[in-house]
Amino acid sequence: MTNATISIDGKAGEYPVQSGSAGPDVVDIRKLYANTGHFTFDPGFTSTASCESKITYIDGDQGILLHRGYPIEQLAEQSSFLEVAYLLLNGELPSKTEHDEFKYLITRHTMVHEQLATFYRGFRRDAHPMAVMCGVVGALSAFYHDSTDIHDPQQRVIACHRLIAKMPTIAAMAYKYSVGQPFLYPDNSLSYTGNFLRMTFGVPAEPYIINPVVEDALDKIFILHADHEQNASTSTVRLAGSSGANPFACIAAGIACLWGPAHGGANEAALNMLREIGRPERIPEFIARAKNKDDPFRLMGFGHRVYKNYDPRAKVLGAAATKVLDTLGISDPVLDTARELERIALSDDYFIEKKLYPNVDFYSGIILSAIGFPTSMFTALFALARTTGWIAQWTEMMEDNDQRIGRPRQLYTGYPRRDYVPIDQRS
Ligand code: SDX
Repeated sequence: MTNATISIDGKAGEYPVQSGSAGPDVVDIRKLYANTGHFTFDPGFTSTASCESKITYIDGDQGILLHRGYPIEQLAEQSSFLEVAYLLLNGELPSKTEHDEFKYLITRHTMVHEQLATFYRGFRRDAHPMAVMCGVVGALSAFYHDSTDIHDPQQRVIACHRLIAKMPTIAAMAYKYSVGQPFLYPDNSLSYTGNFLRMTFGVPAEPYIINPVVEDALDKIFILHADHEQNASTSTVRLAGSSGANPFACIAAGIACLWGPAHGGANEAALNMLREIGRPERIPEFIARAKNKDDPFRLMGFGHRVYKNYDPRAKVLGAAATKVLDTLGISDPVLDTARELERIALSDDYFIEKKLYPNVDFYSGIILSAIGFPTSMFTALFALARTTGWIAQWTEMMEDNDQRIGRPRQLYTGYPRRDYVPIDQRS
């Protein structure tokens, strides 16, 4: 074990340097304030490890993403979303028996309390699905009291299974409510993703035929969105959980954070941007805007806090976009615009110097649109998939005996102490 020396006003202190199994070492500064009366200052946490985790590893320079050690490319190609959910939660790929037992458990938690269906009627039909998801998921703790005791490992497991199982039902109900169609109950004979497709696009008036190409593409999209280390929404879930909040409330907090266009809302914003660009000839205009310091416009679906190389998920999605559109016989000019935008941006000095590459949100919307989802549902689908990662990270934190409530400090630059002035003495 080596130490880092931090010297302030001539007084030096030693702080242990810890190594993980991969990635940067960390300087353990937990005693810094007690020893020096100083805080560290790291808005946006660009240089801060908030926790220890064994779930997901990202190497932003190499464009590497591993879930419990398995490369995302292999999981996307060979696994299923439900199997990846098991892997994230339990740390190992399931045996056939374990897989079938997990599938059985999740399948039998897919229905929601019937009273929850009336909850939707309180929203306007044109409410954004993410507003509905925040409200409905936050309300789940009012229906499932028997899995809110966070100190009971069995209740924690049931809450995890309920959240993974019910998110597709809740998301599909949000879509059905927005288009004025009746809710469909889950069909336990279908796959996790097939069940979601039927609840979303099926109607009571006729059988719904699942297109296996669509089912496979959407399952792959769910895998690619399942978890991603300590991103903004996962950190939100951990911080909410650190106070002892119930898992349903923590996931609702994660959904709220994911909604932002700088995070999970970028998939909706990216497709809207590609549609606004319309045709390749307009690309230079938007590239110029993205480079203009005085213009708040950014290329949505480009850039990443960690990836300073191509997001490995974007590579898989880029290939899947072509396959899905070709198989469905869809010719979407937006895909051509996306390809040309990527080509131009990746050869532009600004993007090269700032290491800006397509991220997970750049191509996903093109596939989701081809499947039939409105752009307003894109981030709800991201939340559906990411619930698995959020709940795995929450579980890891709850099982960490050293975990404490998260409570960052600040650099205060406001007024020093001053006395109250009665209103008749103010200028
Ligand atoms: C997700 O963290 C995760 O893991 C998230 C995620 C996950 O799976 O959970 O991967 C999912 O959120 C992907 C990111 C989706 N967001 C977008 O696509 C929105 C567009 N991208 C950006 O807003 C931005 O790139 C962020 C928010 C993603 C990252 O921002 P950072 O790390 O804070 O970087 P920055 O804003 O400091 O940018 C560095 C420089 C800046 O220029 P300078 O001030 O140094 O001159 O690069 C520029 C930025 O202006 N820049 C961009 C840009 N992204 C960064 N310029 C134009 N277009 C962009 N997209």
